[in-house]
Amino acid sequence: MELKQNSLEEVVSLAKRRGFIFPGSEIYGGLQGFYDFGPLGVEMKNNLKRLWWNWMTQKHDNIVGIDGAIITNPRVWEASGHIKSFVDPLVECKKCHHRFKADDINNDKCPDCDGPLTEPRMFNTLVPTQLGVIQDEKTEAYLRGEACQTIYLNYKNVVDSTHLKIPFGICQIGKAFRNEVTPGNFLFRQREFEQWDLQWFCHPSEMEKWFDYWKEERMNWYKSIFTHPENLGFYQHEKLAHYAKKAFDIEYTASPVGKEMEGIHWRGDWDLSRHSEYSGQDLNYTDPETKEKFVPNIVETSGGVDRTFLFLLLDAYTKEEDRIVLKLNPKIAPYKIAVFPLLKNKPELVSEAKKIYESLKNEVSVAWDDRGNIGKRYYSQDEIGTPYCVTVDFQTLEDQTVTIRDRDTMKQERIHTGEVFNYLKEK
Ligand code: GAP
Repeated sequence: MELKQNSLEEVVSLAKRRGFIFPGSEIYGGLQGFYDFGPLGVEMKNNLKRLWWNWMTQKHDNIVGIDGAIITNPRVWEASGHIKSFVDPLVECKKCHHRFKADDINNDKCPDCDGPLTEPRMFNTLVPTQLGVIQDEKTEAYLRGEACQTIYLNYKNVVDSTHLKIPFGICQIGKAFRNEVTPGNFLFRQREFEQWDLQWFCHPSEMEKWFDYWKEERMNWYKSIFTHPENLGFYQHEKLAHYAKKAFDIEYTASPVGKEMEGIHWRGDWDLSRHSEYSGQDLNYTDPETKEKFVPNIVETSGGVDRTFLFLLLDAYTKEEDRIVLKLNPKIAPYKIAVFPLLKNKPELVSEAKKIYESLKNEVSVAWDDRGNIGKRYYSQDEIGTPYCVTVDFQTLEDQTVTIRDRDTMKQERIHTGEVFNYLKEK
């Protein structure tokens, strides 16, 4: 019987114990809102980012990528509206001095101790930094508050250096930094996190069509990677960010913390018009056929890599009677397969298993385990989501077959040693 239980605490504990996620600067007591990815976490995150990147740039002919700098000319953040509008109202409890985002408070009492709250104070969430070595000559700059700005800054460079014609997209995966008033809930609200963005440049008359297209396309992508796609849904925003005319979130509806995973935003001509105004550069596009000149309009899909990572773990986390399984999509799991010799102290089994391990290593990420008994090794691989385990036993020495065990069904089959990679490819 399956006992499905999406418990954040259990996932946080597994993530640390098995090397997916570690609290940032832990030996110094930590730093709120910062996390590090461990050996398994970085493999899973890289798989996830590779899937997203290939889907964007290989599946779609007219999308190219960039990798922009984290620090830009500070004027960028004036033009983008962040210096004026990227603010959160902050309230503080006069009794326990805990701080909250005013938007999260339902009445005028402290949620922790019922104490009275201060009036909201506006708090800019951009993270400032200083450049230069001499104290009095230092320049104030910002770590980027959203990854997408470098796409707007390079829109003209991309048009001039490629053959792309509108409509086209520029995508990017990169870090963003926010001085969040209330970081928390594990990876959900951090101060340093990663975003994957597509900025889709189109003719203003086609915004409705492309907005609907990308809303569905992105949802379908997320559905293709989640264990329980029925846990995904849309939320339409009524309160809009300073740049947006229309916005939907793709949500992980089963989340025990916040639900927002990706925003689909109708940014219109806001970004390019503002950067044109602030930089003095002409950012119009001229249609090569009709010669019409216009400011391209933008549909943005902006998702959180870390939030997706967290929701994938929660969605895959499954408690069964005698095991914990991460039923991760095999494309995302840190290891695709594990190889075991039945017994560690039988050199002929170990050497046969090593041969399989070495040959698979060239193709996929593969784990080796010869500790304890087979049951414990299965348990250990199930817990980190390894979809298949191969065991070399005495029969292997006779007929060159191995058992291959499926993580989700726990069924075992015997296949020829030369067939293991093909078996994986077909799955
Ligand atoms: N360029 C638009 C933009 O940045 P956003 O809704 O503020 O829009 C996009 O952010 C995505 O980035 C969110 O849907 C979320 O997944 C992720 N994100 C935002 N703030 C975050 C935070 N503090 N910690 C982790 N992820 C965050």
